[in-house]
Amino acid sequence: MLGRDARGTATIGGSSVETILASAGCGTPAYLYDIDGIRVAAQALEQSFGSAPHLIAYAAKANSAGPILESLFSEGCGADVVSGSELGLVLEAGLSPDKIVFSGVAKRDDEIDRALGAGPSGICAIQAESVEEIVRVAARARTVGRVGRISIRINPGIQIDTHAHVATGHDEAKFGVARGDLGEAYAAVDAARELRLVGLSSHIGSTQTTTEPYIAAARVLFDIVKAREAARGGLDFVDAGGGFGIDYGQGCKVAPGDFVRALLAAQRAAGLSHRLIIEPGRSLVGPFGVLVAGVIQSKVSRATDRRWLMIDAGMNDLIRPALYQARHRIEPVHAIDGVPTARFRVVGPICESSDDFGIHELPTDPLPEHVVIRDTGAYGFTMASHYNGRCLPPEIFVSRGRIASLSQRGSEIAWIESRLRM
Ligand code: LLP
Repeated sequence: MLGRDARGTATIGGSSVETILASAGCGTPAYLYDIDGIRVAAQALEQSFGSAPHLIAYAAKANSAGPILESLFSEGCGADVVSGSELGLVLEAGLSPDKIVFSGVAKRDDEIDRALGAGPSGICAIQAESVEEIVRVAARARTVGRVGRISIRINPGIQIDTHAHVATGHDEAKFGVARGDLGEAYAAVDAARELRLVGLSSHIGSTQTTTEPYIAAARVLFDIVKAREAARGGLDFVDAGGGFGIDYGQGCKVAPGDFVRALLAAQRAAGLSHRLIIEPGRSLVGPFGVLVAGVIQSKVSRATDRRWLMIDAGMNDLIRPALYQARHRIEPVHAIDGVPTARFRVVGPICESSDDFGIHELPTDPLPEHVVIRDTGAYGFTMASHYNGRCLPPEIFVSRGRIASLSQRGSEIAWIESRLRM
């Protein structure tokens, strides 16, 4: 997590941001991650389950960097993947297939085949999101000669208070099987000898800052589980999804463990004891990453008294503010007490008006040389692009006060090659 040393310099994992950049030989923009913090977050979440059987299926889309995956897997986490490539990645990182669930509304045949073919008996579950997909998984299982372990992702019809782009459990969402279609979904599974229904799941969306909607969705799920168990039995797990919010500076009173404790209580109240799966992404990694940017210049419009601070990180490096109007705190790398400050609109170099990180109070004299954009460990690098011909930022991983590893840096030459040599 971001800290400050005695001189007010930003630190990650106990080392100053400048020292980390210098020893890695990196300029800005660059992502820095605190691997120890990620481990501690995973341990705390593991402990919140007590002795209850469970699997923390880390949503790899939040941050799929090798050192992060390896740390989480060594703490006992599994993975929730959403593409064949993510599946290949977590397997390559050494994760056992029986700790992997595969979500997503439109899995291609080759991706389904990969999930069916992993290890001796496929992955923990392919989470089917439609009746049509159940039929397709059955056909693939028949073709490749495997039994498909599937779960049905249910749309519980619950709206959460979040940005529309990240709400997934309401009736208009493309995700999951609607409650009214469940009978047909069961019929499709039960008719296929190649399929085994091993679980039921739901995921209602991201950045939840209270547990109530998560638990309301879990109750819907538990009722559905009870009815299915009474009719057929045979479910191994119930997967309540992820979506636990973090404190982006506006406060978040609930910790990931609070969601788990409330979930366990709801499960007990429902009289069930299945293995629980959860799919957190952001909460395990978001607070433990920063994007360090260099300040290029300020721009002051004397006529309108507007002030911008132009930094070298843009929406290609971090798209959350442009896409969801997300606010990430921006602070100087060196926080100096008593210097004059002003409200700047912090913007990147990309030729788009949406390349805008919002208004932040920052020093004016002197201007900071570098700033940190906080809480960017989740959905930062994984959503980065080459837009405007920009290279992907390097990623630096700090563990036990040392640089544990450094990502391959996309060079300008590599980018030019990729555009010209077809
Ligand atoms: N499970 C499923 C099926 C998901 O689709 C997601 C996220 C998660 C789990 C993990 O959710 P989390 O715990 O990280 O909130 N790019 C957006 C977030 C999109 C999340 C998509 N699905 C952002 O930057 O806020």
